Formats: sequence, structure tokens, C-alpha cells
Amino acid sequence: MQNVMTAPILERVQASLERLGANPDWPAIVLEIPPRPEMGDYAFPCFQLAKHLRKPPAAIAADVAAGIGSAPWLERVEVVGGYVNFFLNRGEGAKRVVETVLQQGDAYGAASVGAGKRIVIDFSSPNIAKPFHVGHLRSTMIGHSLARIFETLGYDVVRLNYLGDWGTQFGKLIVAYRRFGTKEEVEANPIQSLLDLYVRFHKEAEEDPALEDEARAAFRALEEGREEETALWRWFRELSLAEFEKQYHRLGVHFDSYTGESAYNEKVKETVAALQQSGIARESEGAWIVELDGLPPCLIQKKDGATLYATRDIAAAIDRYETYGFTHLLYVVGAPQQLHFQQVFGVLARMGHTWVDRLEHIPFGQVRIGDEQLSTRRGNVVFLEDLLDQAVERASRIIEERNPGLEEKRKVAEAVGVGAVVFSDLFHNRIKDISFDWESVLNFEGDTGPYVQYTHARAASLLRRAESERGLKEPYGVEAAHLSDGESFELAKRIAAFPEVVGSAAANREPSEIARYLIEVCHGFNSFYHARRILGSEGESSRVALVAAVKQVLARGLYLLGVAAPEAM
Ligand code: ARG
Repeated sequence: MQNVMTAPILERVQASLERLGANPDWPAIVLEIPPRPEMGDYAFPCFQLAKHLRKPPAAIAADVAAGIGSAPWLERVEVVGGYVNFFLNRGEGAKRVVETVLQQGDAYGAASVGAGKRIVIDFSSPNIAKPFHVGHLRSTMIGHSLARIFETLGYDVVRLNYLGDWGTQFGKLIVAYRRFGTKEEVEANPIQSLLDLYVRFHKEAEEDPALEDEARAAFRALEEGREEETALWRWFRELSLAEFEKQYHRLGVHFDSYTGESAYNEKVKETVAALQQSGIARESEGAWIVELDGLPPCLIQKKDGATLYATRDIAAAIDRYETYGFTHLLYVVGAPQQLHFQQVFGVLARMGHTWVDRLEHIPFGQVRIGDEQLSTRRGNVVFLEDLLDQAVERASRIIEERNPGLEEKRKVAEAVGVGAVVFSDLFHNRIKDISFDWESVLNFEGDTGPYVQYTHARAASLLRRAESERGLKEPYGVEAAHLSDGESFELAKRIAAFPEVVGSAAANREPSEIARYLIEVCHGFNSFYHARRILGSEGESSRVALVAAVKQVLARGLYLLGVAAPEAM
């Protein structure tokens, strides 16, 4: 997670601070990037040290600066106010970055901070017999990206899909199928017809409330393991899972386990019994609840004996801890379930499970398409499959216009269309609600996946030409003197930050930091590309090497987001 451009600065600052009497209570050394290049390439702010040294920040800055010394990579040091500003030898700095990236390849940005730690990520987790909609896409892509980010930092990652394959809705579905469904219809078009049955159930139940009782009875039969209901449920589950897997395959997502809610049908009884016997749960009007500090009580068993989503999550967490012995368990689930997780964690804490502090809810905002909020009950839900198909079709039209002679157009259109949707999902802070519109997600010049993919393809094409026209290939000769201009240096400075960005994205559980960072690298690349002649220039080999380093970082960044990086577009 080191930045090779700032590492030597940090070392010098550290040594200088030690001479001033630094001790572990002092704040960690953090460098800032000054707003204007005249103020230096990096700055060390001394404000927080004032209370430790009992001196004004400007005096501390002067002391720190005095201890820095000289080095070939360092042009000069200036003190301005409470800041020590560092001016690097730009060519040397850029050269070091380019050489490091090319030498490390895919390992650039990787680290081993996670060695010996296991992180379990519960993500995607769609509900059986309901469509895989754009809300689940967000969980899927945030979880998938976090999994890759943590893997790259050396963590042992376990990907869990906690399928919503249990609950009273299956009683409704069984009843609806028996009354209104046919085998042929369901087999021909599983998700749509199961959804239609579910919607139909709710419509009919408004007229005929007895249907609700029938559904409760059907679910009870299922919980008791009765044959006919179990067979139907299993059939619904298989059909749905096959559909989900098609979408996962398309997105490049995989899971280590599909252990869903139904797997806890038995264990949940033990959990309830333990809660009752220990006195943690108490009876309230025939139901069982656990009271929690500062939260509404958690209902763990209904009057009719049925268990709940929360109860299953409690049993599942215990089972996961026993199975995986995780150091972290992340639940990538929408913000509306905040209270649910607070209650689940609260009950686990009351049970005395000290590992509860390893559990984290990773919430995210909603996706709106136009003004429409998405709901299954109304039946006007946007299917992920249709959304992706549409994205690919639009991407394919754009490619047809821009580059009709492109090879493997269909493959590229798939990568661009799907990439556009995924990137737009990951670009904003996850907690924000996002609205989705075609114009902006597919804009090749905006803050989009296609823009990053296009910049990557442009770099790839330049490298191909460097080889075919100029005979330049790896290892490229790199000379500091040819990378000392402002655009090359700024670009190198950005790619130097990649390992820190990966570390920060992991720490904040925020793939958007990588998405935003990639956009900045692209801006830097495009300024460089327009300002500097590359092929045929005196410094061509060094500049081509810089392009190769940019391509490496863009490819790796896109990989961490789960977005494909085509070589040509
Ligand atoms: N199936 C749930 C839903 O679609 C999400 C499950 C999330 N994971 C969990 N352990 N509760 O809302």
C-alpha cells in the first residue's frame, strides 16, 4: 500500500520528527497534495503537532524542514505557514513510478496486510422466485468488488450468497401456483411466471383474505418438511438459481457457497431455544422478543411459532463463525435493513458472542430508474437481464457509429454495455441513492465505465503501434529527463497513488474510491496524450513506458471493480 513517489519523503519526515522527539502518541504522518503546483508536489502539514510540541505550526515546519537534508530525488523544500512543501525532481520521481509499475505488473497495488485474516462477504443474496433486480445488482457489484479488493490485499476471502429461499412468501407462492399456475408456464419462463404468480396472489388476497391463511398453512407445512410443499419449494429454488447463475456468469461473479436462509430452518430452533432458556428472550403476547438497549425489541418468534428473517440471520452468523472462524463478516445489504442488522448484532451481543464486533453491515442507497422506485409487489420491476441486454444493444449502436471496422464487435459491446452499468453502480459513494439514465452511463466522455475502458483501449492501441511502427516493446528504456515535463509528472503522480487508493477503498469498504480514482488517471492520461508527442519523439521509449504503466493501472483498477478492459474499442 506504499506510494513509491512519497515513500522517500515519508522516511525523511519520520527521521526529522524523531530528532524532534516523536513518540507513538503523535499522529501518523500524512502528506497532502497542495492545491496548486507552485506550492509543491506534496506537503506535510504540522498543525496537529502543535499540541505535542507546544510550538506554533510554522516553527515546527521550519524545524522539520531543517532536518530533511538533500537527495537526488528532491529538488527543494519550502516552509509556508504550517506546511513543509516538497518539490520533487520530477523526472526521477516519474521514472521510479513507471519502473515500479512495469516491474510489478498485476502485483502493483497488491499488499499483504490481510495475510492470515479471513473475511467473509455476504452479498447479492437475491430472493428466490423474485426477479434479480437492480437493487441486488448493487449488492452484487459492491460485494464482488470488495471481495477482489480484499483479495488483492492478501485476505482470504469467502464469498457467500445468502439466498432468500425461505419465509412466508413461499407459502404464498405455493398457494398461488396450486390455484393459478401450470408447470408448462413456469418451466418456459421461470422468474417471470413465478413473479406473476406472486403478484396475482396479492391481488386475489385483497378480495379473498382467506388466501393469506392458506399461505400461512402452506409455509408451516414447508417448515415441517412436508413432502409436497418441499418438492414445490425445491423446484422453485432450482429454477430461480439457474436464472441467477446466468446473470452471475455474465457479470463474472462467483460464490463459494449458496447457503441461504432455508439452510437454517433447523438450527434456528436451537437458537430460539437457547434464547428462551437463557432468559434473554421473553414472551410477549404469545410471541418471543429480545429487548435491546436503545433499539426496538427484536422479534424472534411469531405468535404462530414461525421464525423470522432476523432469527435466521442470528443462527446463520453463529454457524458462519463456527464454520469459517472469520476475522471480518461483511453484509452488503441495502440501507433500509440498517435496523435489522443492528438488532441481529444486538441479540448476538446479548448472547455473549464477543466476535460480534467483527460483523459489519455495509449499507448502500437505492437505484432509481427515471422516477420509478422498484418493487416486486407491483410487478413493474426492472429485470437485470433486460437492463443488461439494453445496455449492450445501446453500446453496440455506439460502437457501430464510432468504429464500424472493429473486430469482435459483439464481445466488445457486451463488455462496454455491462461495464457501463456496473461502473455507474460503483461510481458514487455507496450510501447515496443513484438515479440511472442511459445518456450518462454510456457517455464515452463522461465519468463512466466506457470512458475508462476507452482510455485503456487507447493506451493499448498506442502500445501496439509502438511495437509495430517503432519496434518498442518491454522492457522499455526509461530516462528521467524524458518524463520531467508537467503532464508526464502529474500522470506519474496519479499512478503512484494506486496502492494507497486500494488500501483506502478497503478500509472504507468503498469501491467508489477506485472508480473515481480511475477517472482521474484517465483525465491525466488524456492531458498527457494531447500535450506530448509520443511515437517518433526523442523521449518515445520513456513515454511509451509511461503509457504502459497507465494501461496496467487502468486494467487492474477495472478488474477490482469487476469491469472488463477490452484491448480495442
Ligand atoms: N435476501 C435479502 C434481500 O433481498 C438480503 C439478504 C442479505 N443477507 C443477510 N444475511 N440478511 O433483501
